[in-house]
Amino acid sequence: MLAHQMLRTFHQRYGYAPLLVRAPGRVNLIGEHTDYNQGFVLPAAIDREIVFAVGLNRGPTARLFSLDKQQAHEQALGAGPLRPGSTLWANYLLGVVAQFESRGVAVPGFDCVFGGNVPMGAGLSSSAAVECGLAFALDHLLGTHLSRLELARLAQQAEHTFAGVQCGLMDQFASLFGQPGQVVRLDCRSLDFEYFPFDSAAYHLVLCNSGVKHSLASSAYNTRRQECEQGVSLLQTYYADVHSLRDVTTAQLARHRAELGDVVYRRCRYVVEENQRVEAAGRHLAADDMAAFGQLMYASHAGLRDDYQVSCPELDQLVDIARAHPGVLGARMMGGGFGGCTLNLVPAAAVPGFLAAVTAAYQSPTGRPLETYQTRIVGGVSEYLGNGVDC
Ligand code: GLA
Repeated sequence: MLAHQMLRTFHQRYGYAPLLVRAPGRVNLIGEHTDYNQGFVLPAAIDREIVFAVGLNRGPTARLFSLDKQQAHEQALGAGPLRPGSTLWANYLLGVVAQFESRGVAVPGFDCVFGGNVPMGAGLSSSAAVECGLAFALDHLLGTHLSRLELARLAQQAEHTFAGVQCGLMDQFASLFGQPGQVVRLDCRSLDFEYFPFDSAAYHLVLCNSGVKHSLASSAYNTRRQECEQGVSLLQTYYADVHSLRDVTTAQLARHRAELGDVVYRRCRYVVEENQRVEAAGRHLAADDMAAFGQLMYASHAGLRDDYQVSCPELDQLVDIARAHPGVLGARMMGGGFGGCTLNLVPAAAVPGFLAAVTAAYQSPTGRPLETYQTRIVGGVSEYLGNGVDC
C-alpha cells in the first residue's frame, strides 16, 4: 500500500521507474541509554515502516519529496560540503548524502519520494528509519557495497551531524539488522550480536503513545551523555581498566559517590544496573520466563524515572496503569524519553482487556484519545521486489 503510493507519486513527479526500499522503526525491549555507554541493548525492527522510491536523475540536484508533509525540497550537489538547512525533515536525508561524500563517494543528482507510518516523535526511531532507508538505497544505486554495519554507522553519523543528537548505534542497527520474529541483543562495544526468538503468538508488544512529543529530547539526551562521560573520567583516575560505564561495578560507584556528586552518581548507577538487567533479560528470554522479564522492565522504568530522569508524568502514568492491570507482565518508557511511547509486555489473551483499561484510564494532556499500536517483529531494511505490488 505504502509502496504503491510512493511509486505512483514518483512516477507522477519524475516519470521514470525508481528503486523501492522499506526501512522499519524499532522497539527496544530493555537496555535504554546503554548504547552510547558501550553496554547492551535488546531491540527489534517492527512493522511500522518508511518507504522510499529513489532514482538517479543524471542532473546535479537532489529532488526530495515528503509524501507525509506534501513538501518538496531541492538541494544542489557537488558544489562544496553540505550543511544542515532550515527544512528539518530534509536534513535527515542530506545528512546521509554528506556522509557518503565524506567517505569519498561523489553523490550525483537523485530523486527521492518517501513516507510511512512510523509515528514521529513517538520514540520508535522514525529518524533512524529515514536515514537507514536512504543510505541503503544510495548504496544500491551507487554500487558502493557498504556492509550493513557500515550503513548503520553512516546513518548514526548523519544523525550526529545533521540532527545534532549524539545518539548511540541502537536505532540504526535495529532498523538494518532486524529479523522476523526475533529480538537482537547487541553488545555496543564489540558489536557482537545474538538473535533470540520472541514468541509473538503468546506475548504481544503493545505500544501506548503518551502523545507527548519529545521536544526536550535532543538537548537533554546530549547532557545525559556528557554526565556519563564525566563519571567515567573520574573513575578512570582510580581504575585503569575503566573505559566506559560498561566496566564499572556498583561497588566502585558507591565508593566514589561523594566525589561523583549526586546527579552524576545517579546517572551512572542507572546505566550500570540497566546493563545488568539486559544480561538477566537475555537469560529469562531464553528460558521463556516472561514474568521475570516483565519485572526487569518495571525496574528499568523506575531507574529511567528516578535516576536517569528522562521520563515524564504521562509516561509514568501509563506505566502505573499497566502495572495495576492484572495480566500485564511488564511496562516501561522506551527510547530517549521525555515523551513518546511506553512498551507493554502482555500475554495475548490479556491484550483486549488491557487496551480497554488503558484507553479508559489515561488522561492525555492533549485531550485526544490514547493511540496504541500492536506491533509485529519484522526483518530489517530491504528492497521491495515486484515494484510494490507485493506490499
Ligand atoms: C535514542 C537514541 C539511541 C538510544 C536511545 C536510548 O533512541 O537514538 O541511540 O540511546 O535513545 O536508549
